[in-house]
Amino acid sequence: MTRRLECTLSTPMAVIGKDILHAAELLRANHLVAIPTETVYGLAANALDSKAVLKIYEAKGRPQFNPLIVHVKSAHEMKKYADVPPLVERLAAKFSPGPLTYVVRKKKIIPDIVTAGGESVALRVPAHPMARQLLEELDFPLAAPSANPSGTISPVSAAHVADGLGDKLEYILDGGVSTLGLESTVVAIEDDTILILRLGATTPEMLAPFAGVKIQTHTATGTGSPGRLKSHYAPKTRLVAGDIRTLLEVHRAERVAVLILWDLPRAPNIVAAEVLSAKRDLTEAAHNLFSAMRRLDSVGADIILAERMPEEGFGFAINDRLERASAT
Ligand code: TXA
Ligand code: MG
Repeated sequence: MTRRLECTLSTPMAVIGKDILHAAELLRANHLVAIPTETVYGLAANALDSKAVLKIYEAKGRPQFNPLIVHVKSAHEMKKYADVPPLVERLAAKFSPGPLTYVVRKKKIIPDIVTAGGESVALRVPAHPMARQLLEELDFPLAAPSANPSGTISPVSAAHVADGLGDKLEYILDGGVSTLGLESTVVAIEDDTILILRLGATTPEMLAPFAGVKIQTHTATGTGSPGRLKSHYAPKTRLVAGDIRTLLEVHRAERVAVLILWDLPRAPNIVAAEVLSAKRDLTEAAHNLFSAMRRLDSVGADIILAERMPEEGFGFAINDRLERASAT
């Protein structure tokens, strides 16, 4: 009797599978589905339906002032949902499908809840083949933030999604480990300049040939583009980032876990370590970052010491994530 009661009360866990048609069916019925993308997994719902979108905020525990990215099937489709300036068209010809998100003026068809009441909507064409097939099946775009509880580390596998949100959704479309492993770069256009609102998997160097590039520094309050919230992407274990040898010296009395690019230091108080790229490749480091942070978060160390990356290529975005993981 007691057993049966426990069974009835326990929340069902999401099914993990590769059935794109089933995912499409659930989305048409206004359910949430976690979807694979080349950057990180997304928690998706019909972007044109306010009730479906509201479920995303509830499942993630996401503040409703933080707007969502709308995933569309092609660069051409963006025009259905927003005014697309010429510079965005040029960028999209080069970077979409891919890890670049454009903040553009929304059309009426996009509900206010998607943009947190704002006039601009963030649009992206994902490159993952399963995400693209899914969008082809649907006659609406997908609003999808990263599929993790608000403020925690983004998921790069179906198992990560199940870990954080497994009891909050029905289906996780399994597309393997995200190849890039770092969220898209979010840009807005200001006076023909590309303003980077969030550093990500399209680097400032890649954007520079198209126009002047400015990087907006994030704020503690998170108004405007709340993705700039200072504390974000955070493990449960305290994390500090900086020069690894200095950090080891400062924290020599604690049980430390270290996250480094390639050159593993030695110290008796290191209880776990993750090398992001033995060949010092920042693209590989980005791919490994979130999984490595999760593993270090589970070893029971007093603190995670993270090495700051060189300021080039993916190094900017990795340092941004480390900085926010360390903010409290
Ligand atoms: O790679 C990605 O971008 C992943 C995958 C699933 O596409 N998505 C993702 O979503 O990282 P999310 O919600 O975790 O981050 C979206 C970022 C946030 O920083 C948010 O504030 C910003 O984009 N954003 C969304 N809509 C915006 C808007 N209308 N204006 C300014 N910033 C916006
Ligand atoms: Mg996120």
